Amino acid sequence: METELVGEERQGEAVMLEQNTELLTGKKLYLESYGCQMNFSDSEIVASILTQAGFETTNNQEEADVVLINTCAIRDNAEQRIRNRLKQFNKEKAANSDKVIGILGCMAERLKSQLLEEEKLVDLVAGPDSYRDLPNLISEVGTGQKAVNVLLSREETYADIKPVRLDHNGVSAFISIMRGCDNMCSFCVVPFTRGRERSRDPESIVGEANDLFERGYREVTLLGQNVDSYKWNMNKKEEVLDPSIETVNFAQLMEKVALVNPDLRIRFSTSHPKDMTDDVLHTMAKYENICEYIHLPVQSGNSDVLERMNRGYSREWYLERIKSIRSIMPECGISTDVISGFCGETEQEHQDTISLMKEVRYDFAYMFFYSERPKTLAARKFEDNVPLEEKKRRLSEIIDVQQEHSHESNKRAVGKTYKVLIEGDSKRSSDFQSGRNDQNVMCVFPKSSKQAGNYIEIKITDCTSATLIGELVSES
Ligand code: SAH
Ligand code: SF4
Ligand code: F3S
Repeated sequence: METELVGEERQGEAVMLEQNTELLTGKKLYLESYGCQMNFSDSEIVASILTQAGFETTNNQEEADVVLINTCAIRDNAEQRIRNRLKQFNKEKAANSDKVIGILGCMAERLKSQLLEEEKLVDLVAGPDSYRDLPNLISEVGTGQKAVNVLLSREETYADIKPVRLDHNGVSAFISIMRGCDNMCSFCVVPFTRGRERSRDPESIVGEANDLFERGYREVTLLGQNVDSYKWNMNKKEEVLDPSIETVNFAQLMEKVALVNPDLRIRFSTSHPKDMTDDVLHTMAKYENICEYIHLPVQSGNSDVLERMNRGYSREWYLERIKSIRSIMPECGISTDVISGFCGETEQEHQDTISLMKEVRYDFAYMFFYSERPKTLAARKFEDNVPLEEKKRRLSEIIDVQQEHSHESNKRAVGKTYKVLIEGDSKRSSDFQSGRNDQNVMCVFPKSSKQAGNYIEIKITDCTSATLIGELVSES
């Protein structure tokens, strides 16, 4: 049952495949990414694998020999956007027929060879666990073979690959700590596109954090679909788990990363309400450099809907977790994800989501209307029976409530002083700099004598619904 749900899997350790890199040397790669932070992090792994194989990266799609698009399949509109982009690439390709267009990531995994064979929109298809195979796949396109690899793995974590940082602020970076997801939230396509959950060796994670710090980075975000289920068995190769063998859980991993240097800030995403322990909260409270900010997706405020979603918690359980966060870290920022119009959602159940939001008063939220995804439990078991117009109406009600709360949350910050990590000049004016506070809110302030990558104390004097505006307190 489980293997059927996660699709094909590759057994055994992933091995570096033999590559004919000569053909690729000097070729130009253009890489575009969509979807979640994990996808952006994966693109950095892709860039690393392909630069190792001889590619140069370019920001100019027109001059690229290979155009790769790292895709998301989470909702139908995410896929439509990518289809349109592929059509545009194909139009431009007409002028340079040697150009290779490839699709990576979750949509590649979900649709397998469909975009290559039936829709003829791409020359290459690579799922999230087959990026080591990319140099080969690209060479195969040249020889007219079907360049498709959508095998999922139980082991691949790309732990040994040093990502090429594509985000150029040079201050904050992502570190993937695990891949895949073993939860079967009934609405979600991720277990099908990313395969089984597997954690990455903590030593390689700490090593990457150390290396980033030495290169001037001052913030790392530990990434996983459910970071709270991170688990590394120190003696992983043993078939029978010996309870005396040391395991590393998420709280312990976070502590190890926090100890890299007190000036390295730690963030993480995403926490799962059913798995988030007080241990994690106490570790956050203990280390000043672990940011007091938690993204805790609720999805719905009604326990029956949560059950249909197979989320593994009730409204009461979720609210108890919020209480725990607030009692251990009163200043902790909390954000969430909400879905409106899930299968069978009644008006009353929708109102329960609104009332939960009013009870929690999130600082920030990502909000969506339900989009049925093929093969998921919900698609097989329930009717997608809330009309689109109704899903949208409920969503706009949710958005209105959240906007009020976000603004309120920012207004509460006025008068407070925060330690901000300078990310660079403000986008609007080079007379100002910007950076985030612990709670992950963007702050804008008059240019200081310090450069990006330094910390500064800011007193908040004003705000908009998305930004805090401050003045310098001290530059010491
Ligand atoms: N692993 C994270 C979420 C990953 S997907 C977690 O468990 O919270 C990011 C968000 O997309 C989800 O939290 C959910 O709110 C939304 N989402 C996922 N599938 C969806 C679907 N079929 N329709 C609408 N929104 C969806
Ligand atoms: Fe999807 Fe649920 Fe896994 Fe998140 S925890 S990725 S919502 S299945
Ligand atoms: Fe999208 Fe895949 Fe992330 S479906 S949200 S890119 S894990």
